[in-house]
Amino acid sequence: MSAYLEFHHIGKRFPGVQALDDVSFAIERGACHALIGENGAGKSTLGKILAGIYRSDAGEIRLEGRVIAPASPLEARQLGIAMVHQELAFCPNLSVAENLCLGDLPRNRAGWVDRAVLRARARTMLAAVGADIVPDRLIGSLSTGLEQLVQIAAAVGTGARIIVMDEPSSSLSAGETRELFRLVRELRGRGITLVYVSHRMEELFALCDSITVLRDGHHVSTGRIAETNPQRVVTQMIGRELRLQTPAHLAREPGEEQLRVRGLSSPGNFSGIDLALRAGEIVGLAGLVGAGRSETLQAIFGLDPEATGEVRVKGHLLPVGSVNAALDARLGLVPEDRKRQGLVLGLSCRENTSLAALPGLTRFGWVHRRRERSLAQKYADQLRVKAPTIETLIGGLSGGNQQKVALAKWLARDCDVLLVDEPTRGVDVGAKAEIYPLLDELACQGKAILVVSSELPELIGLCRRILVMRGGRLVGEVPHTEASEASLMRLMAGVEDEPRTTAS
Ligand SMILES: Nc1ncnc2c1ncn2[C@@H]1O[C@H](COP(=O)(O)OP(=O)(O)OP(=O)(O)O)[C@@H](O)[C@H]1O
Ligand SMILES: [Mg+2]
Repeated sequence: MSAYLEFHHIGKRFPGVQALDDVSFAIERGACHALIGENGAGKSTLGKILAGIYRSDAGEIRLEGRVIAPASPLEARQLGIAMVHQELAFCPNLSVAENLCLGDLPRNRAGWVDRAVLRARARTMLAAVGADIVPDRLIGSLSTGLEQLVQIAAAVGTGARIIVMDEPSSSLSAGETRELFRLVRELRGRGITLVYVSHRMEELFALCDSITVLRDGHHVSTGRIAETNPQRVVTQMIGRELRLQTPAHLAREPGEEQLRVRGLSSPGNFSGIDLALRAGEIVGLAGLVGAGRSETLQAIFGLDPEATGEVRVKGHLLPVGSVNAALDARLGLVPEDRKRQGLVLGLSCRENTSLAALPGLTRFGWVHRRRERSLAQKYADQLRVKAPTIETLIGGLSGGNQQKVALAKWLARDCDVLLVDEPTRGVDVGAKAEIYPLLDELACQGKAILVVSSELPELIGLCRRILVMRGGRLVGEVPHTEASEASLMRLMAGVEDEPRTTAS
């Protein structure tokens, strides 16, 4: 067993946090190496040090025995190291081709960018990873999945031998995920070494050869994936055993009807949606990506001016396309995309948490600071947000911790009907186990909650009943007692026995 890539006593401090502390382990050449740990454990930081985005302040990295210390992404690239980022990494207003060739734009004799060469080069890079994307498209117009594919094309196209993939699958559809897995296997087949960060345990076990667990910036273990198992990894990650309880709201009788949607349609997105929510119940909304789930939530919340049909809260009809009316009717929406819709990165955890709750915290135009602080602290504690203090700017938090604050923001607002889109995306297993009881508690307090999730076990464990959407229509409802992955998948895919979409 030859050590190819070695981390020796790596340390990295940010103001108020020791993100990595004395981390040492090694990765073999050509391996797909899993990196796992709770939100804020230091996974992205380690990847960024390797990719030249951050400098470590202790320790060293060795590649084939030689010490390397890339001081910039460009230097890392020259060493053959690239990273596919958890967050958006490209300029959204440039084309795919321009982004792919950004460091090295081809120029003609007059010094102008040579469009034809640019396009041809981009096409070759995209083809190398089997990406069918027109090079002239703007990055901003691509789905997250396609943008990630472009990032992979950029890594492979610049001759990377080592690629760090930071939660590459977290916003992909089932089909895109399958495609990603195929690509990862192919890259590994070509001898490329992969560092693969993910919170999805099944995925790591299906794809990776070896695994490293980090906890709170410390190295916990490294070993062959065949010699460990998911339960053990979870315990190593969170330092305790995970116990899931049956939600208490399931044992109670739901109360009055809170939300009634009738004939809700949006051209090109969904049509004829009828549903009702009662106080104290959590209802799931399942479906494949593209089924229209998020669009439906947004339309209920008044974000879709094109929508037609009726949305009633406690019997009162809401005007179409008015978020203000929705807020006044005590409706809340936790959006799926925290960066684009949920959070203000330049504000602190406290400010972000209280943003939506401000009406309730304000008297005569003054914000009640002490109440604001204790509210923010309460949710930060409950959701185990890892930040030095609640005054820390959101932009400095790890991806999963940002997601927790996005959730806290809406939980802190006292609403009667809560629409939640993918509440646990990018969140570690330990934090998931905190988010479920919190939603349960809100339901027990009498709120009506509608949850969209791509993780079927999450819906099955949490919901009184699960509505299933396919191709923009509601196609069925499965009560808690009959919910299983198989029964839901059948409805979602609209076939008798759809093969499992997870790793094969
Ligand atoms: N640029 C930064 N400024 C300040 N603190 C930072 C910065 N980047 C990371 N941190 C802190 O370092 C710690 C490790 O963060 P990191 O992003 O590496 O976690 P992670 O394991 O990738 O988590 P996640 O699963 O949520 O993505 C966190 O406490 C985070 O708040
Ligand atoms: Mg991260």
